[in-house]
Amino acid sequence: MCGIIGYVGSRPALPILVEGLRRLEYRGYDSAGVALIDDNLCVTKAAGRLSVLEQVLDLNAPQTAGIGHTRWATHGAPTDVNAHPHTDSSGKIAVIHNGIIENDRALRTYLEREGVTFKSETDTEVLAQLIGMLYDGDLEQAVRKALREVSGTYGIGVLCSDEPNVIVAARKGSPLIIGVGKGEHLLASDAAAILAHTTQVVYVGDGEIARITPDELRMTTLDAIPVAKDVEQIEWSLEEIELAGYDHFMIKEIFEQPEVLENCLRGRLDLKENAIRLGGLVDCTRELTRAKRIILTGCGTAWHAALVGEYLFEELVRIPTEVEYASEFRYRNPVIDDGTVVIAVSQSGETADTHAALAEAKQRGALTLGAVNVVGSTIARETDAGVYLHVGPEIGVASTKAFTGQVAVLAMIACFLGRRKHLSPSAAADFIAALSAVPKQIKQILDTADEAKKVAQQYTDRENWLYLGRGYNYPVALEGALKLKEISYIHAEGLPAAEMKHGPIALIHEGMPVVVIATAGSQYDKIINNMMQVRSRGGSVIAIATEGDREIAKQADHVLYVPNTLEPLQPLLTVIPLQLIAYHAAVIRGCNVDKPRNLAKSVTVE
Ligand code: M6R
Repeated sequence: MCGIIGYVGSRPALPILVEGLRRLEYRGYDSAGVALIDDNLCVTKAAGRLSVLEQVLDLNAPQTAGIGHTRWATHGAPTDVNAHPHTDSSGKIAVIHNGIIENDRALRTYLEREGVTFKSETDTEVLAQLIGMLYDGDLEQAVRKALREVSGTYGIGVLCSDEPNVIVAARKGSPLIIGVGKGEHLLASDAAAILAHTTQVVYVGDGEIARITPDELRMTTLDAIPVAKDVEQIEWSLEEIELAGYDHFMIKEIFEQPEVLENCLRGRLDLKENAIRLGGLVDCTRELTRAKRIILTGCGTAWHAALVGEYLFEELVRIPTEVEYASEFRYRNPVIDDGTVVIAVSQSGETADTHAALAEAKQRGALTLGAVNVVGSTIARETDAGVYLHVGPEIGVASTKAFTGQVAVLAMIACFLGRRKHLSPSAAADFIAALSAVPKQIKQILDTADEAKKVAQQYTDRENWLYLGRGYNYPVALEGALKLKEISYIHAEGLPAAEMKHGPIALIHEGMPVVVIATAGSQYDKIINNMMQVRSRGGSVIAIATEGDREIAKQADHVLYVPNTLEPLQPLLTVIPLQLIAYHAAVIRGCNVDKPRNLAKSVTVE
């Protein structure tokens, strides 16, 4: 999705803006631009990669204030003209914008009647022209007035050549933070853009306007009421958002899983007392244990993790649990009665649909929890309580460590609540011991990562794959298929294995790769039957099996082994070979692994 960076201080702004934009590239974009300001406004923008923009920039430009943007096209094609920043007709005001102005048509018509001629097709230029029309010597006031006319979502940064050392920023539904430095302030939509300069930040809240100069940060509401804000510390370091010798962020993040899951579990698994300690749930433990129903919601990979959560909650907590796509939940008329708890699962904490579903649940009186990775993100701050994933920044568009982090957090919440309901001390002890062993077990799988690479090498020329799983491994089948399709552009479908015979079996033909998760457990015999059904129709079976299973090789063309664990925790292990297969398939096919086409890391618009 789009990215925002801004700088006011005493250093030349342009290198800081370009570096910030580079760090935002992972979010996905199709054009980029910057505006620098002293007595005049100087705007440069270009469709395509950041390197195209860099070729036309004077990197020695002396200006000490500016804004930059990476755009992911929504209104109008990814062209030079539609790229941000957008200016008003006077050429004094420049705007960068994340989000969507929903009443842009009506505003455009009004402005055209007033004599404005538009250069681009974007909703952002509408905002720039509106601010320009309302400007009478006070930029902050003009932005405030313009935003009162606007419906939709926005995170914006605005410059005006009459006020050269000022950036005005505002937010509604699209994240923005202010970085606080010595004699300088930065503006960003994502901490990654400013981490090289400061770890001290102020989060801009919905409906707030920030006015920043090198020495001052002033925050007010849309109604001009001053807002007192705390300066907070970002925990992530610069090293964490760099490649550290890996070819891609995705493979770095796959290999980080043993370590980051240790971080996720640290201090939360009490192996002596056989208890789970979740500081984020302390204040609502009573209410949670009285819950009558749990709804888990999220999108994409997070939705798959939530599906594992459904199985976990039903088995360990014995509370009716449902999983909802956030995009469906927000537009239905969901039944939220007394005792309903809604858990929003999200890596970024900024996904628009998940945020909207959460708002809907809150409005209807549900207790809301977050299972979120990004500390201080919108969802993390708007939920009543929650448990952070603590898996570090995820830069690759394809979620890997966020999935295992989400499943681990949901497993801990399930065990935490289970012990307060029906889970026996000995069952909890077994569960906690098994969970604590997972990071080392993932390491073991990664030590044999070449096996997954060989599978990818053999089958990447096949355009259609199936992924089958049962029980806890059904969501893993969905996740394996999503990973493959999103980064290698191979068509893949994930299914509960038994559903195959109700239709998809018709697809199976000679040599079609079918990945079957066939680990030891209650449905083992049934999944072996499914494998036989595939092979008897010519399909090639790639089985994910439990170490020590000597029989399975007779039913499969390839076997990738994972260590033994409790059935509810298997997804944490079985997903690893599937992440590796997807990664290697994408590399072999020459795809842009970390920035797949048409995709954004964080989907902050509908
Ligand atoms: O940041 P979130 O976890 O809320 O993102 C939700 C999905 O957009 C995300 O999981 C997406 O499906 C993955 N990047 C796919 O790998």
